[in-house]
Amino acid sequence: MKVSGLAGANDGAMLEFLKLPITGIVSDIEPEEMAGFKEQLEAKLMEELNHFIEGMPKAELHVHVEGTLEPELKFQLAQRNNLDLPYETVDAMRAAYDFDDLPSFLKIYYEGMGVLVEEQDFYDLTYAYLEKAHSQNVIYAELFFDPQAHTTRGISYDTVINGIRRAQDDAEEKLGIKTQLIMCFLRDMSAESAMIALKQSLPYKGWIVGVGLDSDERGNPPIKFKAVFALAKAEGYLLTMHCDVDQENSTTHIWQALNDINVDRIDHGVNSLEDEVLCNEIIKRKLALTVCPISNGYVTDSMKAQEIKRMLDKGMRVTVNSDDPAYFPGYMSENLIATQTSVGLSKSEVVQLMTNAFEGSWLPAKEKSALLEKLEAYAA
Ligand code: ADE
Ligand code: ZN
Repeated sequence: MKVSGLAGANDGAMLEFLKLPITGIVSDIEPEEMAGFKEQLEAKLMEELNHFIEGMPKAELHVHVEGTLEPELKFQLAQRNNLDLPYETVDAMRAAYDFDDLPSFLKIYYEGMGVLVEEQDFYDLTYAYLEKAHSQNVIYAELFFDPQAHTTRGISYDTVINGIRRAQDDAEEKLGIKTQLIMCFLRDMSAESAMIALKQSLPYKGWIVGVGLDSDERGNPPIKFKAVFALAKAEGYLLTMHCDVDQENSTTHIWQALNDINVDRIDHGVNSLEDEVLCNEIIKRKLALTVCPISNGYVTDSMKAQEIKRMLDKGMRVTVNSDDPAYFPGYMSENLIATQTSVGLSKSEVVQLMTNAFEGSWLPAKEKSALLEKLEAYAA
């Protein structure tokens, strides 16, 4: 007997679950009964895989710390800083999160961070995310932050980074979660402004592993920041940048990220699938792609789960991440489960996604191996 369509199942395990003898009686089962068994089995396998995902040691490589600002904390910080919010309740605020593309999301994202004023606010924001990530067995995270979104509001660079760093240190000590920081430039601001942010970062070089590029991609190609990224590289930073999904000139931008910027990673980058030569180049350079399915589901026409599966099949170093989980509801576990459910990933494909994340992380080789060993031990 063979029941098809059950990713990762084998007949022996299935019959055991169905409490049937391994041979002999299969022909006595009515087709409707068989369909019911199959449904039960699929539900059971799915539940087991979801548990496996929840318990799996995880790395997150694409999360904007400002995008983890949950409405409840937004209200608390507004009160603490004597600021008015245009909503009466958390539910009303959530209901106003009405975006369907990147610019409409970014408007709400930048408005939201107005409540971040004091160093303690940045601490509370970061620590809350790290507690949440820890609860989902994230053992390593690389956090983006957007200094220009704060310095342009009169908040000093030091205030921002000191608050975030103190939370990183405390979370490592108390929760055992290891993190590194990536400073993003806002691509819809000028290259001169990015250069100022880069210079402001230099006294904190020891706290920042790399630089990225985010915000609105339309009309703001990677090449606009060529000199900024060249200087960042010379200063020892690793380089990544958003190649957001379904943008104008998506593949041209990814080629620029490779050839003009010489990135060490690509954030999103799903449209690379449109160009076979580009995919092969990304594979050759072993570049990780940090895809964010639930976020994609909000700002594009789908979660791009099929594309994640295709990237895995091609041997690309694709990873799954949460992006802005307070706005695109779902942290690491939810993103992985949503992807798995959508395309029926097998357990080994789920483990491959996470292996890709640890391998593509910006940790020193020894630390990377130690974390990979934890994942291997869990999956064994
Ligand atoms: N800034 C915060 N989240 C972003 C995203 N998903 N894309 C581009 N810029 C961002
Ligand atoms: Zn992002």
